[in-house]
Amino acid sequence: MKITIIGTGYVGLVTGACLAELGNDVFCLDVDQKKIDLLNSGGIPIHEPGLEEIVARNRAAGRLRFSTDVAASVAHGTLQFIAVGTPPDEDGSADLQYVLAAARNIGRHMKEFKVIVDKSTVPVGTADRVAAAIREELAEREAKVDFSVVSNPEFLKEGAAVEDFMRPDRIVIGHDDSHGGQRARDLMKLLYAPFNRNHERTYWMDVRSAEFTKYAANAMLATRISFMNELANLADRVGADIEAVRQGIGSDPRIGYSFLYAGAGYGGSCFPKDVQALERTARQYDQELLILRAVEAVNDRQKHILGRKVVARFGEDLTGKHFAVWGLAFKPNTDDMREAPSRVLLRELIERGATVAVHDPVAMHEAKRVLELDLGTAKLARVRFTDAPMDALDDAEALLIVTEWKAFRSPDFEEIKERLKHPVILDGRNLYEPDLMTGVGIEYHGIGRSVLTRK
Ligand code: UDX
Repeated sequence: MKITIIGTGYVGLVTGACLAELGNDVFCLDVDQKKIDLLNSGGIPIHEPGLEEIVARNRAAGRLRFSTDVAASVAHGTLQFIAVGTPPDEDGSADLQYVLAAARNIGRHMKEFKVIVDKSTVPVGTADRVAAAIREELAEREAKVDFSVVSNPEFLKEGAAVEDFMRPDRIVIGHDDSHGGQRARDLMKLLYAPFNRNHERTYWMDVRSAEFTKYAANAMLATRISFMNELANLADRVGADIEAVRQGIGSDPRIGYSFLYAGAGYGGSCFPKDVQALERTARQYDQELLILRAVEAVNDRQKHILGRKVVARFGEDLTGKHFAVWGLAFKPNTDDMREAPSRVLLRELIERGATVAVHDPVAMHEAKRVLELDLGTAKLARVRFTDAPMDALDDAEALLIVTEWKAFRSPDFEEIKERLKHPVILDGRNLYEPDLMTGVGIEYHGIGRSVLTRK
């Protein structure tokens, strides 16, 4: 099928590359000439396992191309995917200017039936606004062309996006009942047929329900995390082990095991933004989502948990003290620093007078850029970036772990002990077993794992 993807950000690029991999003819559009040049010269703007190979293979096969030519992009695809950014406005609502600009471009240039697929995470009701924008453009040039807007939210996890796209748990598609809506449904069915071979994974629904599903899913997952973080903090007080509790409750199939890991708080581009946007939508309809307000507040507080543990152990004034930090990205397998808990921790350590040595397997470059904005050049000079994790440890009071990269799971604990000034690990991701740490002679503080008998 002929497909256009508008926006070659994270979602657009993964969607375009994976659809090309299935044999579709994909045209990717972006307004950013530099990004298009990079992609056309074989480069890739994000770190995502497996993506580079898929992009290279499909470019070589002529099934995937990148351009800034708007008219050509509209002419190309019967399916026009809108996958542009929806950054939060000052008030937390999703900013739809890029989505609506993409819709207007389609309306301005389209000559025959098109299906417009909303892939970006957009508030309930956006498909209607997209349709209205297209209708206005058509009216402007007195053109009569049929089209249909469908909602097809993505459920891609950064670091596993290719895998998530290729093996989806579910495909959610919202369409309307008009003649165009039925045509759109048939085309979407054809597009996703390769994913439904073994069993049907597509959930067909009305457009508003599909838009809502995306927010509901992310809000539910964020809620689970904040709930576990709150329980973990209490477990620390009462002397219980949140890991044992996680398994104890997760074994109930109504609860399940996943997304119950306590830690240093959630970050990334989706959960913080989507929780806020859903709260904002509710307010527009005179409803307050009390649970989500708490989810957000708990998460904001949880991002300070490692800082609080440092203060509890080393005092309020950290002047002259040096710390090692492993992990900067908001989660493993990505270089994404958006809303990363490491940013909150580093700011706190630096403001209390400490110096820091940091290591992340892939996010160092992005971290330098972001931390310069957060801290300013003078304070950034107090952060040393080391190429090897062990090199961050020398003369540090303690090792602080913020991201659960695989490479941190089985380090040489003897070397850690030798290189640190004190054998202390404050672990924001519960990577190690507290009893084993006691066994190797390391003072270990996880999140919610201070069982009384260990003390
Ligand atoms: C999320 C959704 O999972 C995905 O379906 C949606 O399309 C986009 O948002 P992503 O933001 O890439 O994906 O990351 P995810 O793996 O969901 O993790 C989000 C954050 O929650 C990370 O900061 C992670 O460290 C944290 N997390 C996750 C926990 O603290 N505990 C958990 O148990 C799981």
